Amino acid sequence: MSSVISSNNPDAVEQAVNVLNSGGLVGLPTETVYGLAARADLDGAVSKIFEAKGRPTGHPLILHISDISDLHRYAVTIPTAAIHLAEHCWPGPLTLLLHKSSDVSRLVTGGRETVAIRIPANDCARQIIRQCGHAVAAPSANVFGHVSPTTAKHVHDDLGENVDLIVDDGNCSIGVESTIIDFTTARPQLLRPGGFPVEDLESIIGTQILMPTGESRASGMLSSHYAPKCKVVLVDSVAEAASVLAEYRDSRVLDHWDNPPLYAASLYTQMRLADDEGLSAIIAVLPPKSGLGMAIRDRLTKASFL
Ligand code: TXA
Ligand code: MG
Repeated sequence: MSSVISSNNPDAVEQAVNVLNSGGLVGLPTETVYGLAARADLDGAVSKIFEAKGRPTGHPLILHISDISDLHRYAVTIPTAAIHLAEHCWPGPLTLLLHKSSDVSRLVTGGRETVAIRIPANDCARQIIRQCGHAVAAPSANVFGHVSPTTAKHVHDDLGENVDLIVDDGNCSIGVESTIIDFTTARPQLLRPGGFPVEDLESIIGTQILMPTGESRASGMLSSHYAPKCKVVLVDSVAEAASVLAEYRDSRVLDHWDNPPLYAASLYTQMRLADDEGLSAIIAVLPPKSGLGMAIRDRLTKASFL
């Protein structure tokens, strides 16, 4: 069984750093979802991430750094707009896709010449990364294809002894993964909607961000990702939810459509709870498409594919 340490424990950072430096895996709290972290420069440790999650090695990992100055250590030929976003949005739920430096292992990037980088807005996570002295690679700490974890218990439920230490910092405040913007193409392009609304990013850089087209290169964009076992039924209004509810035995309505931050923060917990309770379906009222609603609709839609 993996051990769990509270982020309030004065030894939490040191213990996590020791695990990372000896090539182990840490369940790392972030503001979006919990990550499964390994030191990105230790190929043996990074390999354990793919094994623990059952994730194909072609699916690249996000590098998590603690300070913006480290951006230039891991990425090269960074466009001004990307630096601008990093300065405004980090720490925060934004991931930038850039050209990788020679310091980044191809194991982390799934063989690509590009690297995804972010600074998480979680004090404990940043302290761990800073003291580790190297970026950590961290996908969401769930079994591949399952719902992402927003509590330490979710991490434990999915990965058990495959993670050496879980740092428990309570519930993730945002609850959906980071927004990923590709800056390796001629114009910035959205790869995954997430915790940072695209409209806000566009107003910071003063240019339009292209919507994902065709086959996206981000693995989270595969259909049937983020999925609970129960059926996820999408509806457009509370009234429609009420009429559909009767069709399903043991089902529940998710109706925070008018409060996107609360919807996002509770979404994955509700999906996991539905499975724990053996519900047959979740009836989800879709929030408006703007702001955080875009990411919530994206995850609900992925979860609704059978
Ligand atoms: O909020 C988050 O981003 C969380 C926390 C832990 O930071 N992490 C997360 O990681 O969601 P993961 O591995 O579950 O999703 C990362 C996504 C994947 O869809 C992956 O394909 C994409 O980022 N990605 C990473 N590096 C990439 C690259 N070089 N090119 C294209 N996509 C990349
Ligand atoms: Mg994931």
